[in-house]
Amino acid sequence: MSKRWTTISFLILVYTCYRCTWAQQTQIPEQPTNNLELEAALPEPRAYVPDSQYLDFVYHNHEELTRFLRATSARYPNLTALYSIGKSIQGRELWVLVVSSSPYEHMVGKPDVKYVGNIHGNEPVGRELLLHLIQYLVSSYDTDQYVKWLLDNTRIHIMPSMNPDGFAVSKEGTCDGGQGRYNARGFDLNRNFPDYFKQNNKRGQPETDAVKDWISKIQFVLSGSLHGGALVASYPYDNTPNARICRSSALCAMFQTYSAAPSLTPDDDVFKHLSLVYAKNHAKMSRGVACKSATPAFENGITNGAAWYPLTGGMQDYQYVWYGCMEVTLEISCCKYPPAYELRKYWEDNQLSMIKFLAEAHRGVQGFVFDNNNNPIERASLKIKGRDVGFQTTKHGEFWRILLPGYYKLEVFAEGYSPREIEFVVVEQHPTLLNVTLQPSKQFNMPTIATTTIKTPTTKKPRKLIGFIPKDEDEIIHFPSD
Ligand SMILES: *[C@@H]1O[C@H](CO)[C@@H](O)[C@H](O)[C@H]1NC(C)=O
Ligand SMILES: *[C@@H]1O[C@H](CO)[C@@H](O)[C@H](O)[C@H]1NC(C)=O
Ligand SMILES: [Zn+2]
Repeated sequence: MSKRWTTISFLILVYTCYRCTWAQQTQIPEQPTNNLELEAALPEPRAYVPDSQYLDFVYHNHEELTRFLRATSARYPNLTALYSIGKSIQGRELWVLVVSSSPYEHMVGKPDVKYVGNIHGNEPVGRELLLHLIQYLVSSYDTDQYVKWLLDNTRIHIMPSMNPDGFAVSKEGTCDGGQGRYNARGFDLNRNFPDYFKQNNKRGQPETDAVKDWISKIQFVLSGSLHGGALVASYPYDNTPNARICRSSALCAMFQTYSAAPSLTPDDDVFKHLSLVYAKNHAKMSRGVACKSATPAFENGITNGAAWYPLTGGMQDYQYVWYGCMEVTLEISCCKYPPAYELRKYWEDNQLSMIKFLAEAHRGVQGFVFDNNNNPIERASLKIKGRDVGFQTTKHGEFWRILLPGYYKLEVFAEGYSPREIEFVVVEQHPTLLNVTLQPSKQFNMPTIATTTIKTPTTKKPRKLIGFIPKDEDEIIHFPSD
């Protein structure tokens, strides 16, 4: 606790210094006091008291999972909304349960975040922990200040299983191997997304297409994808621009795996931080102990994805590059499908991590882009100067970007408006609120435009880095009848 306060005092000092040095030269607007309750001022979330009346520590098949989600949404109509983003090949609903004090509607100005579990069907610890997370959140809202704060200020979308067909053919107690990893057509869903670095020729699968559609309609700020088979938080990029040295030889490929170089994003500081938040709040992850003697030990329990092993078509690179959503791959069990009696322990190890990770959506900068009549500008392109992966505003003109404390410039560009560059400060204690007004561009003032024009994010390939088209998210909430 005292360490925390030392850190906070230090950051206040740094912040004060920033202000005294920068205020005159750069006219930083007054930092608005945030109307959010400050996360740092809240007591730690309390431990969950599991109630076997509602949910046991056992694996739930698709019917049981569906029953639990339906029952929970019926029991907590003001805190949850159940929807499906589509169906698996074998016709199982891809359920998402929203947990929030505003489950049915996006709260303007407040972030949407998500967890996706079980993308690999034979890695179901995350699938079960997400059910317990749901139960924990809904049952703690009235009694736990931290949970109340989180649900009042965040919309949390929880998809326990992205690969229900794979799960259906997986075997409890199987720690390794591939049975159930793939969807019903044998595709690895975490190799099935468009790739920034390499052509991905894999045919898009219904499960991946549903997720692509989902994330194109809701702008998620932060996301965790839960896996098993290792104990580490792995952050983008998963793929690398480096040419493959070996194509055919298995030995060569193995060598390449162990000699892989990191492939870092311009937001590497943020991704490392997000991964550390998960690892350090976890009972064991940050110790960085290898699962087996033949597997790597990860310093502090985190790794860059490509440094571990490069892969093409992963979900996290796609979300970050195309939509600016920061996703981390959370490997939470050395054994992919451990026996059910171990689930309670996994919950205890991960509970705090799962909650604290989501709270990170409230770090950095957020705000609105308006025209000079105070109308929101949709699909304005934004970029933090020096960080060449951009993001866009929603139909309400909103934007969010997770950033660590520091001094930044925001570049804002929208067709028909003069581009702007705005300086701002991020502090530890609360997100920086920043509203940007754009003026219609005058046709013939070339010099000003030339000095301030923002390039849309550069790509190595002639491909759009971002194709964000926010749509009315209400469109996708539907409630399949029984
Ligand atoms: C849900 O909210 C409404 C309106 O605030 C309230 O009248 C109702 O009692 C709440 N229902 C539950 C189950 O809490
Ligand atoms: C920014 O705009 C939003 C939406 O109109 C408004 O609620 C908020 O108070 C504004 N914030 C600042 C700092 O001006
Ligand atoms: Zn996996």
